[in-house]
Amino acid sequence: MRAILLLLTLALASSQAYAQCVINSFDTVSKCLSSTSITIQGPFTVPKNQVINMSGLKSGTKVTVKGTITWAAGTLDKTNYLFTIGGSGVTFDGTGATFDGNGASYWDGKGGNGGVPKPKMFRSTLTGNSLVKGIKILNAPVHVFSIGGSDTTFDHITVDDSAGTSKGHNTDAFDVSATNIIIQNSIVNNQDDCLAVNSGSGIQFLNNQCTGGHGISIGSIASGKTVSDVVVQGCTITSEDNGLRIKTISDATGGSVKNILWKDITLKSINKYGIVIQQDYQNGGPTGTPGSGIPISNVTAINVQGTMASGAKNNIYILCAACSKFTFSKVSISGASPSCTGISPKPQGC
Ligand SMILES: *[C@@H]1O[C@H](CO)[C@@H](O)[C@H](O)[C@H]1NC(C)=O
Ligand SMILES: *[C@@H]1O[C@H](CO)[C@@H](O)[C@H](O)[C@H]1NC(C)=O
Repeated sequence: MRAILLLLTLALASSQAYAQCVINSFDTVSKCLSSTSITIQGPFTVPKNQVINMSGLKSGTKVTVKGTITWAAGTLDKTNYLFTIGGSGVTFDGTGATFDGNGASYWDGKGGNGGVPKPKMFRSTLTGNSLVKGIKILNAPVHVFSIGGSDTTFDHITVDDSAGTSKGHNTDAFDVSATNIIIQNSIVNNQDDCLAVNSGSGIQFLNNQCTGGHGISIGSIASGKTVSDVVVQGCTITSEDNGLRIKTISDATGGSVKNILWKDITLKSINKYGIVIQQDYQNGGPTGTPGSGIPISNVTAINVQGTMASGAKNNIYILCAACSKFTFSKVSISGASPSCTGISPKPQGC
């Protein structure tokens, strides 16, 4: 009898561990946080000033999202994230599903630098071969994905902030300060960087399409920050201010940028600069005077082709004080001329 009871208890315990825990309202989030198999079932609306915090998921948890989850507009500022996920070996599958951040209720043309407070959208601290796939992020109020952690792949992501054309500033799609991150097969339409790598190594940005924003960026690199081993390959960049960009802060020290590869990139109708590497950033803008405290070395561009928009500044713009080993081949960007100073020997196209 005892043995049978024990078996029943064990069977019940294991079926609970493997059962789907369904989140279908904000109030049902907390009961699922220790499950290893979670379905977020839309449609539902997260009440204003509330966030979904899945930062402490158990190792190996599978999260599936269905339908649309909308965050009601509130008064949270950019130190908050509407959604956070963390854990090791986690799979987050949002194929066909949407997270709607209600951006139009916040956009005032001031982005993260003023105006009404705006929360960021999606924070990942995932590690250990985690995967985030398929989710569509619609109308983030400000920065979309903030990626920390390590060893995580983002696949088939859609970022659609296209409705923010005139007022949705600072809607960076992927801000990365992390190691061993792959972002691939994704589509971005926004009003700031498509990718911004601020620190870390082993970042791969593959087969993505960027439209409407500021380009694929490394930086602005601040004191003590290092970025190395970044690969941007197979991407198309359309109607953005810049194509490919590296910028460092002019008086920053104790950091570096090295081993950057840009390969098989198509630029279409770029508004300002096709390839831009500048060491003169300060307070979010260029000063014209580069600093040498964050050296940039070993930058390779292979097969970067395309067009500048009419009125664009330079197809290649380099303003360096401490740059070395820039190797460009098959770089051909029509519709503007280059300006390259502070780099020797000059790369092809300069
Ligand atoms: C999210 O949950 C974790 C625990 O899993 C906690 O440490 C953290 O403070 C929470 N963050 C927020 C913003 O509530
Ligand atoms: C330069 O960067 C490439 C990647 O673009 C890397 O394969 C190579 O090892 C680097 N060279 C050195 C000397 O570190």
